Amino acid sequence: MSNPDQAASVSVGCEILDAQHAKLFALIRELRAVPQDADPLLEYRLACKALRELVDYTRVHFGEEEQRLEEAGYPHLDEHRKEHGRFLKRVSEIEESMHFGEGATSLNIFCSLLEEWWTNHILKSDRQYVPYLKRSA
Ligand SMILES: [Fe+2]
Ligand SMILES: [Fe+2]
Repeated sequence: MSNPDQAASVSVGCEILDAQHAKLFALIRELRAVPQDADPLLEYRLACKALRELVDYTRVHFGEEEQRLEEAGYPHLDEHRKEHGRFLKRVSEIEESMHFGEGATSLNIFCSLLEEWWTNHILKSDRQYVPYLKRSA
């Protein structure tokens, strides 16, 4: 699926998790929208702030999702949890090594990578738990 908004609108059968997925894509758009022709220091600060908000909300979402999957007795929760963990580790590595002051390209590429990861994750991994969540509802 090429359009992340489509992925964000794919339901996983839980209103709260669907809303969180949509908000994650909105936060990536906010990060991408950080003005890149302004003062580099200001750009760096704004990008850091937007990224921090995105990472914090990612943790909120993963926590909520994992708790619901645990309650639903989802049999592949361990693997799913590990996938979340690997993503957070990768994002924090990129966050540490990234210099947003280098300009629009790196921030845009980073946002595209994030959108791609979320699109794949929701469509391939999250969707696998849909029948289990429905069963436990
Ligand atoms: Fe997930
Ligand atoms: Fe999710």
